Amino acid sequence: MQEKLIAKFKEIFGKEGDIRVYFAPGRVNLIGEHTDYNGGHVFPCALTIGTYGVVRKREDNKLRFYSMNFEHLGVIESSLDQLKAEKKADWTNYPKGVIWAFDKKGMKTEHGMDLMLFGNIPNGSGLSSSASVEVLTGYILKDLFGFEVSNQDLALIGQYAENNFNGVNCGIMDQFAIAMGKAGHAVFLDTATLKYEYAPLEMKGSKIVISCTNKKRGLGDSKYNERRSECETALAEIQETVGIETLGDLTEEQFEQYKSAIKDETRVKRAKHAVYENQRTLKAVEALKNNDVKLFGELMNASHVSLRDDYEVTGEELDTMVEEAWKIDGVIGSRMTGAGFGGCTVSIVKDEAVDTFIEKVGKAYKEKIGYPGDFYVVEIGDGPSRLA
Ligand code: GLA
Repeated sequence: MQEKLIAKFKEIFGKEGDIRVYFAPGRVNLIGEHTDYNGGHVFPCALTIGTYGVVRKREDNKLRFYSMNFEHLGVIESSLDQLKAEKKADWTNYPKGVIWAFDKKGMKTEHGMDLMLFGNIPNGSGLSSSASVEVLTGYILKDLFGFEVSNQDLALIGQYAENNFNGVNCGIMDQFAIAMGKAGHAVFLDTATLKYEYAPLEMKGSKIVISCTNKKRGLGDSKYNERRSECETALAEIQETVGIETLGDLTEEQFEQYKSAIKDETRVKRAKHAVYENQRTLKAVEALKNNDVKLFGELMNASHVSLRDDYEVTGEELDTMVEEAWKIDGVIGSRMTGAGFGGCTVSIVKDEAVDTFIEKVGKAYKEKIGYPGDFYVVEIGDGPSRLA
């Protein structure tokens, strides 16, 4: 893989100089959806698929970008003096955003660079291709220019760039899962305090299957910001009655007690999801510690129902994928993963049922939706690294 990427890089940008190769994973979230901007818990893991970056430092301040995933765009040029998000956004806003964010945090990049990317995460699939590029860029800057920055800080800087350069008010889950990923483990993260624990995920006798709806996300980002502000308003309303910091501070019982403070039915549903999903995540991690995979799966299923009915971020494609998965013997749990509105589902499937799963869910999905989905059996991998 590295040799091929280096050969391509040389073809695009020329042969000379010190050429380095890096990798950052994508992520999948097992449970704890739309809790990370509500002070709740999440339980994602890094994947062995992700983004490769091939880079060379330049002596001037030029930035030249090339993506093997968007070859039709060719080489996109910019410079260190031109770091602002452009209206007609292309993928280079992600690396540019991170260079910009490093500068804001007092780490000024003094040299330009040539950067080529290749991602084997399906684009726009909800497996965090953008956060993967952000953490990758941060890791490259750190290694290439010797900035003293921890992987946890790379996550925070990536989120800062996404929020302030790209205008998506995402939480910390994606960048954290990617920057702090550990093979064979999921990251149990309290997003209110950033305290985290690695939970071994030995999928004895089962696999993680990702089903991609291939639905283009379109309005997703603006809906994402809308959900976030609905939760913020609901929190402010509850805070008039009781002194909590975030929705993640509430148990289910407390929520039922205080919910009448929320002055709008839709907002009650949104806040209910945030509170119950956080509690489900705590229960799911506990279940895993007790080797109760069945309960873990049931909590995943309940998470989907709540995202469908209360948070309303699923849609026909995700619902079809999940409802068809639930019908298959050997499916331990299945739910949408990531922001929603399209993208992927995550299912835990017994080894012997994986082929039937892909065949039957694939067939039913295509019949109902009219175009095919894609299926990936994935492995849990490490955080970012330099490969060459
Ligand atoms: C996106 C965001 C995350 C998180 C999820 C939903 O992936 O980037 O911060 O909010 O949606 O759980």
